[in-house]
Amino acid sequence: MASLPSPFVLLCFLCLVSFSMAAPPRKPINVPFQRNYVPTWAFDHIKYFNGGNDIQLVLDKYTGTGFQSKGSYLFGHFSMQLKLPAGDSAGVVAAFYLSSQNSEHDEIDFEFLGNRSGQPPILQTNVFTGGKGDREQRIYLWFDPAKEFHFYSVLWNMYQIVFYVDDVPIRVFKNCKDLGVRFPFNQPMKIYSSLWNADDWATRGGLEKTDWSKAPFIASYRGFHVDGCEASVESKFCATQGMRWWDQKEFQDLDGYQYRRLRWVRSKYTIYNYCTDRTRYPTMPPECKRDRDV
Ligand SMILES: *[C@@H]1O[C@H](CO)[C@@H](O)[C@H](O)[C@H]1NC(C)=O
Repeated sequence: MASLPSPFVLLCFLCLVSFSMAAPPRKPINVPFQRNYVPTWAFDHIKYFNGGNDIQLVLDKYTGTGFQSKGSYLFGHFSMQLKLPAGDSAGVVAAFYLSSQNSEHDEIDFEFLGNRSGQPPILQTNVFTGGKGDREQRIYLWFDPAKEFHFYSVLWNMYQIVFYVDDVPIRVFKNCKDLGVRFPFNQPMKIYSSLWNADDWATRGGLEKTDWSKAPFIASYRGFHVDGCEASVESKFCATQGMRWWDQKEFQDLDGYQYRRLRWVRSKYTIYNYCTDRTRYPTMPPECKRDRDV
């Protein structure tokens, strides 16, 4: 009867495999700021705690501030824990984005648009390829992003760009090269974050202005995780292309469980999706064909 356990072993192996398929990229903790980042502007408006494990960006009526990654990357997984300014933050925008910052730039954006106390902030995402953006999607979050730290991350490989909030995929931008849409693949990007006053557009389209009596506005960050293929700004490819964990099969598409979570965000929290805006786009942008299939 020595053969008896083998079906069980096999079954258990299968269940482990399908479990790990559903796993989003891991969430490393305690990566200090200075390992991967440097301040970009208004250095005195960044405050450091616990040896740089925690930092705060400060916006007052004189200036906001920002930081950027030391390296530039072609593909990988980039995450940050973020706690947004509490209370009245109308007009205030915090952003976490990847950008190649050249003339025909590629860019992957998370933008948090503040709101009056008790009113929901908005998370706007956008993708630029070859200098072309105008692909905004907007959602409300299912928690108060000013209350606790949450993980925000980007997974970028040859097949897709996935925006995650904690473990939930909130947006997928598929490689639609076959449909004639450019996909970021040959321009290394740096990671940026900033906090600034955008009361000309951010809250209720600019109607709500920043209340400077509530300043300073503080955004807190930790977990400055970067796991990408580091490449010089001019390089056109990643030397280890296809061989890294994010290139593997399980990250080339979302699985059923992740699609269900994405659909949950779609149905319950979406405010705006450029793909369904027929006033702005009488003909649907080609990549939206795959956005709709979600
Ligand atoms: C702010 O609150 C208003 C009223 O609830 C809402 O219409 C708006 O979408 C919220 N967010 C932003 C960023 O304007």
